[in-house]
Amino acid sequence: MKKLLILAVALPSLLFAKSEMDTCMKCHPSIVEEFKGSMHKNSSFYDDEIHKAVWEKHPLHEKGDYKCSKCHAPSSQNEDSVKEGISCSTCHTIKSVEQHAKSNSNVYEKDSKTFYSAEEGRESEKVVYKQKTSMFGMNKTTVGSPYHDIDYTNENFYTAEVCMGCHSHKQNSHEFTICETDKEGAKDKKQNCITCHMPKVLGSATTIRQSEKHAFHGFAGARKHPEMLSQYVEIELEKKADGFNVIVENKASHNLLTHPLRVVELRVNLIRDGKTTALKTEKFMKIIGRDKEPSMPWIANEVLVDSMIKKQEKRSVGYDNLLTSGDKIEVQLGYYVVNPKALKKLSLEGNEEAEKFTTLKYKYFTIE
Ligand code: HEC
Ligand code: HEC
Ligand code: HEC
Ligand code: HEC
Ligand code: HEC
Repeated sequence: MKKLLILAVALPSLLFAKSEMDTCMKCHPSIVEEFKGSMHKNSSFYDDEIHKAVWEKHPLHEKGDYKCSKCHAPSSQNEDSVKEGISCSTCHTIKSVEQHAKSNSNVYEKDSKTFYSAEEGRESEKVVYKQKTSMFGMNKTTVGSPYHDIDYTNENFYTAEVCMGCHSHKQNSHEFTICETDKEGAKDKKQNCITCHMPKVLGSATTIRQSEKHAFHGFAGARKHPEMLSQYVEIELEKKADGFNVIVENKASHNLLTHPLRVVELRVNLIRDGKTTALKTEKFMKIIGRDKEPSMPWIANEVLVDSMIKKQEKRSVGYDNLLTSGDKIEVQLGYYVVNPKALKKLSLEGNEEAEKFTTLKYKYFTIE
């Protein structure tokens, strides 16, 4: 009986709860579809099991004080709206970013019907919806969006500073920086967070005004669509008299991976006479902790290991195996989103996404 009652109350609210996305869907279907699969949409503890696992160990979890919402579900007012994660209007109403030591803050536009965006050639436009009637009222043409105004003049949407309210850095209560993304990537208008993580893909941005391409809203990253980023990593082989080097170049404007849970691995196989031998596996990571032991981020006050490949770095890894003509070298650069050593502590054993190894770049060399 009790169960039935809850159902009866929950059903109507489920039927009538319309998310903002349903509105945008009418005129921006491709963008909304991509966004549904992104980590921004799925960033709250409702949808991201890895985030949830860490949140559940956090001292504030017991009090239900979901402080993480500042970045993981910024428009949430209550438990229910936490599900929305990061919404379309979260980003499109960011007016500017305030710099702070603990973490930056977004300054949001108060008029909820003004959206900021960027478009080459329209940098000085503010578009207010208008219907123009010409030919004695026979032809109607529209300007802008009937649902919202658009302000193209916000510099932060061209430099990608708009990303830095949440992505710049985060300190814990011991004034220790847990994670950061180099500011370098949010300065240049030609290459920045947006051009790499939201590349232009085929399909119109709106159904009302046709465009050939639109900015990808699935946000390519470590969790989703890493294949769209593999072009920013190069792998070379350098033969030497006493062995060889594998050189990994990170073309990103930040550490190859930025979150302290991650572990990158370089796996190398030597194939000779049809026989495959696995050579040493090199690991790249940044481990934080306290008293020389790895710890949860809110406890950490020191960096224990930092072998992560840095921005624009070419990292050379040496192997002392002598190569002969006809040998083949297979190189795989990939990562775990959760350090296998932390799985147990986070009760994430058996979680497929947390345990899987993702290949970012694969290369095969034949020795002349
Ligand atoms: C009734 C149709 C309609 C709805 C609903 C709608 N939009 Fe739009 N939107 C448009 C049109 C049309 C344009 C293009 C205007 C132009 O190019 O002058 C546009 C443009 C935009 C742009 C700027 C695109 C650019 O050129 O850079 C953003 C951002 C945007 N919409 C966000 C949203 C969001 C977020 C929602 C949901 C809250 C939404 N829109 C709902 C019709 C709509
Ligand atoms: C200042 C903004 C900010 C706050 C506050 C914040 N986060 Fe995050 N968090 C991020 C960003 C940005 C990322 C993605 C960055 C990255 O992968 O390096 C992220 C990623 C994560 C991830 C990795 C998820 C994955 O994809 O595997 C975990 C876990 C996480 N956060 C936990 C938390 C918890 C728990 C809290 C609250 C106690 C919190 N965060 C508060 C910005 C924030
Ligand atoms: C309101 C805060 C916020 C803003 C603004 C924001 N992000 Fe994020 N972003 C996050 C959080 C939180 C995560 C981690 C979500 C998770 O893994 O649970 C994240 C994750 C990501 C990821 C990793 C996705 C993956 O699959 O691993 C990329 C890439 C990213 N953001 C790029 C951007 C770019 C580019 C911008 C600017 C256009 C931006 N973000 C703006 C909060 C934000
Ligand atoms: C993490 C931040 C972020 C979120 C969330 C976000 N956008 Fe955007 N969006 C941007 C940025 C930045 C641009 C400008 C890209 C560029 O420079 O071309 C953009 C561009 C657009 C455009 C213009 C695309 C083009 O190429 O002309 C539309 C339309 C749009 N967004 C709609 C939406 C809708 C609808 C949603 C929700 C489903 C959404 N956005 C969610 C950051 C975001
Ligand atoms: C030159 C291209 C490039 C630029 C510029 C760039 N990135 Fe990245 N980003 C990458 C690559 C490559 C990766 C690693 C591949 C992957 O995550 O699968 C990555 C990974 C990430 C991740 C996932 C990290 C993790 O540990 O999960 C986030 C979040 C991210 N970038 C945010 C940003 C933000 C914010 C900016 C702007 C300040 C930015 N990126 C600028 C190429 C770029």
